[in-house]
Amino acid sequence: MKTFPALKLRNRDVQVPIIQGGMGIGLSSYTLAGAVAREGGLGVLSSAALDRIVTQRHGKKFKAREAAAQDVIDAKQIGNNGAIGMNIMVALINQYEDSVLGSMDGGVDAIISGAGLPMALPEIALSHPRANEVSLIPIVSSGRALEVICKRWSRQNRLPDAVVVEGPLAGGHIAWRDVNEAMDPVNHLDNLLRDVFEVAKKWNINSVIAAGGVYSHEDIQKYLDMGCTGVQMGTRFLATYESGANEEYKKQVVECTEDDIELASKPGSPCGMLFRVLKSSPFYQEALKRERAPKCDKGYLLNKGNCPSKYENEKTFCICNGLLSSIDLNPKEKELYTVGHTASRVNRIMSVRELMRELQGLPVEAELVHPQQVRAHQAVPSLTV
Ligand SMILES: Cc1cc2nc3c(=O)[nH]c(=O)nc-3n(C[C@H](O)[C@H](O)[C@H](O)COP(=O)(O)O)c2cc1C
Repeated sequence: MKTFPALKLRNRDVQVPIIQGGMGIGLSSYTLAGAVAREGGLGVLSSAALDRIVTQRHGKKFKAREAAAQDVIDAKQIGNNGAIGMNIMVALINQYEDSVLGSMDGGVDAIISGAGLPMALPEIALSHPRANEVSLIPIVSSGRALEVICKRWSRQNRLPDAVVVEGPLAGGHIAWRDVNEAMDPVNHLDNLLRDVFEVAKKWNINSVIAAGGVYSHEDIQKYLDMGCTGVQMGTRFLATYESGANEEYKKQVVECTEDDIELASKPGSPCGMLFRVLKSSPFYQEALKRERAPKCDKGYLLNKGNCPSKYENEKTFCICNGLLSSIDLNPKEKELYTVGHTASRVNRIMSVRELMRELQGLPVEAELVHPQQVRAHQAVPSLTV
């Protein structure tokens, strides 16, 4: 069996070219990212609501910057100092800068940023003493988006170290606003990749990573053969013992069929992008019937006070409260489950070790098949920055 070549980051090589995609809120927990790093992949945390999550875990108050640093430290400790990234959504405007700087304080290896164009990322990162050690990686869904980013970043003399190309089958938010457009064959991941390869070549970016619908060892080999340096996967890692999703969420992922998965748009995410959900999510059901009154008491998305779900429930629903509930940190609200298109193929929960071995085409040891559920959000002893 041919082994996959390592993924080269700015300051280190990632032995297995698999990036476990950032999954907010708290789904790509330090337990998940750490486990992926231990297996030689790039484990990616999500900066979303880390102030709440890390405060709860450590039993003392953390602000956004300290929380991002602490989450990286905790994941690195579990991950035997393997490669750890931080996913920072552009839409999380209030804490964007603190999340970038805090992750860098904590020793992060890569910052991966999408859900909008991360125009200001190099400017913020270059103000940090570790700027030369950290890979800056935007997520795009077209060559045009990469072109716009490169033009802007080049003013800071810093180009992307790699680029993630996310297609319409991904979990969470996808770049399109209209379902027909998203599902148009012109937007198939393979076509988006060809488009991005051209722009990447022009700007001398040698690392293009495929995301959205990557499921198996064969899929990974296909994208490496196409010229990608790695893949980013979310849904398969969501259904591991180590992910931060609560047990009901994981159960729903295992049981769902293709018909149970929907691109929410009316009402949709306050970010204005399509958001893939399990129709059965209690929070989404409530939103469809407009039973949940408009309310935003978290203030993470967009500018504080301006999240549309604070004022209306016709066009949008609050995603922060539903997602926090799905990691058992918001008992007063119902649960919201976001998944990728391939969730219908997931038929059991497995450990990260088993999944990483399967994805590399390696034999799976018998004892890996029934490990314990991990409590991702339980308290851990404080290892302060
Ligand atoms: C449950 C879930 C939550 C996600 N949350 C985020 C997020 O907060 N930020 C982000 O940039 N991408 C997010 N994604 C996208 C993943 O990082 C990844 O790119 C994508 O899931 C790849 O597609 P796949 O699920 O088919 O493997 C999420 C995906 C899932 C499944």
